[in-house]
Amino acid sequence: MGALKLLLLLILVSLSLMAAAGKSPRHRHRHRWLEAHTHMKKLNKPHLKSIKSPDGDVIDCVHMAHQPAFDHPLLRNHTIQMRPNFHPEGVFSDSKVTSRASITQLWHLKGRCPEGTIPIRRTKRDDILRASSVESYGKKRAHATVKPSSIDIDFNAQNGHQHAITYVEGGQYYGAKATMNVWSPKIEQTNEFSLSQIWILGGTFGEDLNSIEAGWQVSPDLYGDNNTRLFTYWTSDAYQATGCYNLLCSGFVQINNDIAMGASIYPISSYKGSQYDISLLIWKDPKEGNWWMQFGNSHVLGYWPAFLFSYLTDSASMIEWGGEVVNSEPDGQHTSTQMGSGHFPDQGFANAAYFRNIQIVGGSNNLRAPEDIATFTEQPSCYDVQTGKSDDWGNYFFYGGPGRNPNCL
Ligand SMILES: *[C@@H]1O[C@H](CO)[C@@H](O)[C@H](O)[C@H]1NC(C)=O
Ligand SMILES: *[C@@H]1O[C@H](CO)[C@@H](O)[C@H](O)[C@H]1NC(C)=O
Repeated sequence: MGALKLLLLLILVSLSLMAAAGKSPRHRHRHRWLEAHTHMKKLNKPHLKSIKSPDGDVIDCVHMAHQPAFDHPLLRNHTIQMRPNFHPEGVFSDSKVTSRASITQLWHLKGRCPEGTIPIRRTKRDDILRASSVESYGKKRAHATVKPSSIDIDFNAQNGHQHAITYVEGGQYYGAKATMNVWSPKIEQTNEFSLSQIWILGGTFGEDLNSIEAGWQVSPDLYGDNNTRLFTYWTSDAYQATGCYNLLCSGFVQINNDIAMGASIYPISSYKGSQYDISLLIWKDPKEGNWWMQFGNSHVLGYWPAFLFSYLTDSASMIEWGGEVVNSEPDGQHTSTQMGSGHFPDQGFANAAYFRNIQIVGGSNNLRAPEDIATFTEQPSCYDVQTGKSDDWGNYFFYGGPGRNPNCL
């Protein structure tokens, strides 16, 4: 009996010692490291080949059937759709008109992924450790999108997101397209970002918003550098529990072996120099209800299955195009993080960033110019937007700005 009591006492003592150790910073650090490691292992899939990009990324060529989408319980028995049933009319028309230098991705300089695989940017342990928690890695913070028509300036100022956008609302939209100028805006603090994108929106802001987003971004926290990267995002509950950037959670089904989400875009426009732009099209397949995405004139990337969404299973009620930055107010002043080229829209082509040929997919499933385009910006003295219309560029706008300046403090 005495020996048993002693043993129990010993166990109790060591348990409490272990509990105490569990609270130590060193143990917490170790725990976080292990958590990040486990999450990284889960995200990175077995690959047939990997390509080391000049920017430090590793691109894994993963068999299409092993992509992250199939971790989703509702996609276990999913048969991949290898092509959309439907393309909105006019999609390929601009390839005939323009023959500009093709813009692609930096990793292409070092190789390509074989047919039947998809390129996935490998997640590094440090990528996850930079996030505030393992769960928040690859996710936007809640309430990240602005509703322009009923702006609560205080609310937006609080969460620090600033926009310069154009938008249409009140109709039924089945997709959107734009050709967007690609730049490399300067980011003041690593917890800030600058992005330029299309938003396809349905539902109620702040509650159950459904959003599909695509464009380019510079986000030091997400990627660990200042490169301009192609990205996508989706959520079906206003950025709360569902959705993520790129392929960082299961949802998007990729079919394309050329374009990696989250990979650096190359080349980038320069001030008063060469201009580069990318075309993005997102549209709903009227037959299956899936939302498809196309990069450039020929790269159909894949689709978001209809079941991921509630409102967007029918149609979108709002489309937005433009830029967004996070203003974390370093030193209590407005951030000097740039939007677009970092120059105001009135400076025009080769100086300010643009979106051109902005179009929507309407009720008859064809691409057309949007009507009643509105604009929104919280502080035009920091970031602004100006719309226009021409034969070559259709509906276009210049947008962006430098952030902090004598009129924006
Ligand atoms: C997948 O197929 C299996 C076997 O046919 C079936 O038991 C299972 O319920 C299916 N799962 C889903 C999510 O449809
Ligand atoms: C990103 O740019 C900021 C300044 O804009 C610089 O301080 C930082 O070192 C850069 N980060 C990397 C990883 O190059």
